[in-house]
Amino acid sequence: MGLRVAYLELDDFRNASSRRVGLSGQTTVLVGPNASGKTNTVEALQLLTAGRSFRHPTPSQLVREGAVRGRAQARLEGDGRVIDVRVDVAPGKKAFFRNGKRLPASDVAGSLMSVLFTPDDLALVKRGASGRRDELDDFGRQAAPGYSRLLTAYQRTVEQRNRLLKEDSPDLGLLDAWDASVAAGGAALLSSRMRLFSRLAPKVEESYASISGGERLTCSYGCSLGEGAESLGRDELARRLADALAEARPQDLRRRQTTVGPHRDDVVFSIDGRDARAFASQGQQRSVVLALKMAEVLLAEEVVGARPLLLLDDVMSELDARRRDAFVGMLLPGTQTVITTTNLGYFSEELVGSAEVVSYA
Ligand SMILES: Nc1ncnc2c1ncn2[C@@H]1O[C@H](COP(=O)(O)OP(=O)(O)OP(=O)(O)O)[C@@H](O)[C@H]1O
Ligand SMILES: [Mg+2]
Repeated sequence: MGLRVAYLELDDFRNASSRRVGLSGQTTVLVGPNASGKTNTVEALQLLTAGRSFRHPTPSQLVREGAVRGRAQARLEGDGRVIDVRVDVAPGKKAFFRNGKRLPASDVAGSLMSVLFTPDDLALVKRGASGRRDELDDFGRQAAPGYSRLLTAYQRTVEQRNRLLKEDSPDLGLLDAWDASVAAGGAALLSSRMRLFSRLAPKVEESYASISGGERLTCSYGCSLGEGAESLGRDELARRLADALAEARPQDLRRRQTTVGPHRDDVVFSIDGRDARAFASQGQQRSVVLALKMAEVLLAEEVVGARPLLLLDDVMSELDARRRDAFVGMLLPGTQTVITTTNLGYFSEELVGSAEVVSYA
């Protein structure tokens, strides 16, 4: 069964001075006009489950204008357990608590996973590689213990190496040391990321086949170390990465940045053998993203043993009826879902009838 959110309380959080949202149903639809606070609610749920917000706000942006501090709190229930998760926000400060005990943001994920789908995600296939990497990393942060730490450590090392490269005449001995750190940290991250990807990819491909009715999607990890990196162990990855850094050094010194490593990798989608970035139609791209989100829900279930919380912010209106039905048919039974919309007309009577509808004004 796993955990589910029983309710959410917002106090001076974003535009809510005080709001309580009961989430007793399997599906909850938040309906209301623009700027009524629907996405703010979704953001709070993401923050309390993943420890991060897709909008990457500063703490003071989360505090209601005119207030000095704010708070969001959710009660999670299931499997005979009750967990209260809370985030206190004040200018320059954000503190998470589980059952009253302080915990670092990186440890918030792990009680209940969440998968968020927003209209912005629909451009994932065509946008730059960083969006696709982030999608994978955001999932990894929640699904794999230690992932967050590996990612942060690696990013920090690359930043430091870049800082050195930006100096007028970088100390080459120091650069050697940073190369060794980037290679070790990069190999650890890469190994975790590729392992996760190898579990996600078949699920994306299967989901796509069921949405598209037969077209074949393949997704592969575009590793800057070249093909075949998936099968390498961590030590071999570190050696390859060290070689790649050495080879790229003249270029890195010229461009004053680190041009190889997992921060440059990509996820490549192809449909019936053709690169989706260049060839996929608008609708096919949307199906790819939909398949990716479905796969995340399914993999989350495999990893944690329970379906994640599915947050669909304003996205149903962006999907045509066929894709919406595929999504609803495959995911909504058995998944606690929060859907936001300005118009209930996008949903079938059956869905609205069985959902908890919360009106925002
Ligand atoms: N810290 C804050 N203090 C006060 N208001 C805020 C704060 N942060 C955001 N808001 C406001 O909250 C309002 C609601 O935002 P939200 O994104 O939740 O709207 P929404 O209901 O999702 O609308 P839409 O249907 O257009 O997506 C916005 O007008 C925004 O300016
Ligand atoms: Mg919104």
